[in-house]
Amino acid sequence: MTRPKSIVVLTGAGISAESGLGTFRDKDGLWTKYDLNDVATPEGFARNPVLVHDFYNARRRNLVEAMPNAAHVALADLEQRFDGDFLLVTQNVDDLHERAGSRKLLHMHGELLKIRCEACDAVRAWREDLDLATTCPACATTGRLRPHVVWFGEMPLYMEAVYDALALCDLFVSIGTSGQVYPAAGFVADVRRRGIAHTVELNLDPSDGFSLFAEKIYGPATEVVPTFVERLLKS
Ligand code: OAD
Repeated sequence: MTRPKSIVVLTGAGISAESGLGTFRDKDGLWTKYDLNDVATPEGFARNPVLVHDFYNARRRNLVEAMPNAAHVALADLEQRFDGDFLLVTQNVDDLHERAGSRKLLHMHGELLKIRCEACDAVRAWREDLDLATTCPACATTGRLRPHVVWFGEMPLYMEAVYDALALCDLFVSIGTSGQVYPAAGFVADVRRRGIAHTVELNLDPSDGFSLFAEKIYGPATEVVPTFVERLLKS
């Protein structure tokens, strides 16, 4: 591998699996136990906010107990030691990248440890359970707070900055994502179309878009990501 000048890394639930956070579509994944239409859409929230709050409260409690793993640490190390442009784009709503030390990071699907008020749009850090009796600390409205996560049918965040970085990168690495959710699933095709960037998939097993990647390495993220980062930094 020749040394790149500009790297974009995309991560998904697979990078946090070995930290004890469930993925969505694997055997025993969250979407095998819950209907995503009930807990991950604005319509589901309008229908049954109690169910949606319970779902995210459980995930928030799980996250607060979890720790970053060797794959998160390797990406933070890459950001620190790489002298070119670097951007980490994550579909994950956990904060394990930040806790491992990543700073050049965009959460395109929002953040579980933040809440947003649907009455005043204020966003703030939040580590506790949320329910219909919670009052917005900014506008004092009760019952209009929601997790600051992107649901199906809503616009992902920071997409302009993400596409700017994808348009410039000469290395695109996709880690721990099944390639089933757009727009992230389309990034590899966007990058490939320009014809100049190397594309790499690191995953437990081939994703839906695996054939679009020039290089593929399969195994647990805690093994394949640190090895890949070391090789990259030596190139
Ligand atoms: P998925 O659950 O769809 O895919 C997880 C991927 O991680 C699979 O391809 C697994 O093979 C892989 N995987 C599992 N364990 C792994 C490990 N230890 N090491 C490496 N890879 C592993 O999760 P995402 O692709 O992130 O969106 O899902 C994308 C979006 O769909 C999520 O952000 C979420 C979900 O619905 C919203 O909620 C809006």
